[in-house]
Amino acid sequence: MSTVQEQDVAESYSSVVRARRSVRNYDPSVKIPDRELLEILEEASLAPSSSNTQTWRFLVISDEKAKERLHPIANNQKQVLAASATIVVLGDLEGYKEIGRINEESVRKGYMPADFAKSFTENSLRLYSGLPAEKMKSIVQIDGALVSMQIMLSAKARGYDTVPMGGYDQQKLIEEFRIPANLVPVMLISVGQAAADAPGRLTARLPIEDIVSWNELK
Ligand SMILES: Cc1cc2nc3c(=O)[nH]c(=O)nc-3n(C[C@H](O)[C@H](O)[C@H](O)COP(=O)(O)O)c2cc1C
Repeated sequence: MSTVQEQDVAESYSSVVRARRSVRNYDPSVKIPDRELLEILEEASLAPSSSNTQTWRFLVISDEKAKERLHPIANNQKQVLAASATIVVLGDLEGYKEIGRINEESVRKGYMPADFAKSFTENSLRLYSGLPAEKMKSIVQIDGALVSMQIMLSAKARGYDTVPMGGYDQQKLIEEFRIPANLVPVMLISVGQAAADAPGRLTARLPIEDIVSWNELK
């Protein structure tokens, strides 16, 4: 049986999920404070990741000059200029190397016994360092997609809107912003205050019975 407080949390979660939609018109006068953007990214980073390696990295494009450099790379999509910031979500192919530091912190916080952390770290380093590049790329893209969704929901819960973007030139992005070879672009996410006259459009979803199979695929 859930408590009243749990019900409130569940209701507010549900309302955030249902209210989120991709917004492409932003009020250019609204600047999200850096500290709030950091809170959004920190909250989003509570997302699960492969062995808790947290391979996501964020390049925040928030000043006008940087936005102007990103705009043509992102197919001149207007949200890049008008939104407060666009977050380039990156996946670090070498991010797994942080696992020792992450596990040590879990030990320090009392979340994990030291001997478990040691073998978990050793096993993980062996596993990830031996993976083919394509597999590693797939892992960081999955982790990056999970954190991306949480960025969008965290922003929405704070009254902001977002739009995820795959419509950009990956090679030009890498060159223009000097993204090193270990960082794979996952997606761009513009975040800002929606323009008063332009909330996001509603979009239809497939009926649930068309997309769910039980025990055997239909
Ligand atoms: C990976 C990905 C890439 C997307 N790329 C773009 C994009 O480049 N430009 C854009 O305006 N919307 C883009 N979208 C937003 C989708 O069009 C939008 O999520 C979809 O139509 C559903 O609408 P909703 O987000 O309002 O629910 C993208 C969404 C995803 C998940």
